[in-house]
Amino acid sequence: MDKLKIVGGTKLKGQVRISGAKNSALPAMAASLLTVGDVILENLPMVNDIFTTRRLLRELGVGVEFDSNRSGRFRAEKVLSVEAPYDLVKTMRASVLVLGPLLARTGHARVSLPGGCAIGARPINLHIKGFEKLGAQIRTEHGYVDASAERLTGAEISFEKITVTGTENLMMAATLASGRTVLKNAACEPEVIDLAELLNKMGAKVSGAGTSTITIEGVPELHGATHRVIPDRIEAGTFLAAGAITNGELDLLDCNPTHLASVIEKFRETGVNIETAPDRIMLRSNGNLRAADVVTKEYPGFATDMQAQYMALMTQATGSSVITENIFENRFMHASELMRMGANIQINGSHAVVKGKTCLTGANVIASDLRASASLILAALVAKGFTVVDRVYHLDRGYEKIEEKLRAAGAQIERLK
Ligand code: EPU
Repeated sequence: MDKLKIVGGTKLKGQVRISGAKNSALPAMAASLLTVGDVILENLPMVNDIFTTRRLLRELGVGVEFDSNRSGRFRAEKVLSVEAPYDLVKTMRASVLVLGPLLARTGHARVSLPGGCAIGARPINLHIKGFEKLGAQIRTEHGYVDASAERLTGAEISFEKITVTGTENLMMAATLASGRTVLKNAACEPEVIDLAELLNKMGAKVSGAGTSTITIEGVPELHGATHRVIPDRIEAGTFLAAGAITNGELDLLDCNPTHLASVIEKFRETGVNIETAPDRIMLRSNGNLRAADVVTKEYPGFATDMQAQYMALMTQATGSSVITENIFENRFMHASELMRMGANIQINGSHAVVKGKTCLTGANVIASDLRASASLILAALVAKGFTVVDRVYHLDRGYEKIEEKLRAAGAQIERLK
């Protein structure tokens, strides 16, 4: 199992190119199941979740080819299987995103129930309720969700809770349903808008994406399309945190600052200087970080996927900050590892109080999930001595060559095989 060894104490300086968004690419790849035509996706991030989805799609009968330029061609001329098996779903929950497209295209889907994960229970009950509203019969047995429908019928679906992949799954299914579907209390994330744009290029009639009400007029069939995946806002936010925590100067290229508005605003509140251009973010940090509270929320609020990185940053800020996690019930696993490095953090339910500034020291630490891994790397970048981060496979699921990008900006980081 790979590990990362990081020697702390270097200011990061230079340019970092941001990759395509994992959480946009995953539903976009699943959407290729909706048509016999070629779906070409550009700017795919070369991360393990994308390779897992490629494997899943191939098992379902989709022809997939990647070129060396980060583009993928997906051709679902025939769907040969409608089952997303347990061994794939357990490594990547986003596999449930094939449920909607398979059901809409073939009238049947069998997807393993994902089960809990390191950040919370994460049920898919809201996806299931939505499919039932569209007329699907759903049975859950032997750990699988078995969904079938002659043809889905448009309906009004009001989500009890905002769900990103739930919104995406239902939106994809509704494109081929008969009649109109209205999704209320829908997720407004940029990745949802990106998926709607792809679906519309494929001939779907989706309007309102980016607001809490999305309307989909069903059409009999979709066709192929070419689409460029949006930049990864969480990767960009993670590099902003790396620049800020090391008192560095970073210039992020190929990103979209508007998708990071709440993160940029929060970082500015802590004393970090940030300037933006349409596809660029310039950061300069002078080492005088101030504590600032944060509450995670659905978009456009501060993303839960940036909470762990922000906690690492707050260990280096003067004062106390209260970090409130509102989206997932168990997303503070990184705190105990940060504490082993010397951080002063108290957890009370969904609140973490971080007292800074603390002197961190390198240690052997274990990453519990993707963003926790990023948090530990950030802490290691400022810790005295060296840190070894174990279970780097979490990181490789969602960050493309993070150690190479950090090393190019001056970090002392190497992968131990
Ligand atoms: N929820 C339910 N029932 C459902 C669906 C969700 O109770 O049927 C709850 C969840 O348990 C959670 C909340 O609703 O408490 C929000 O979950 P959501 O469904 O929005 O999360 P997701 O769609 O499974 C996506 C991202 C996550 C990101 C969350 C929140 C993808 C592939 N994943 O997950 O990304 O944290 O939205 O923004 O888009 C990551 O990239 O590290 C990551 C975990």
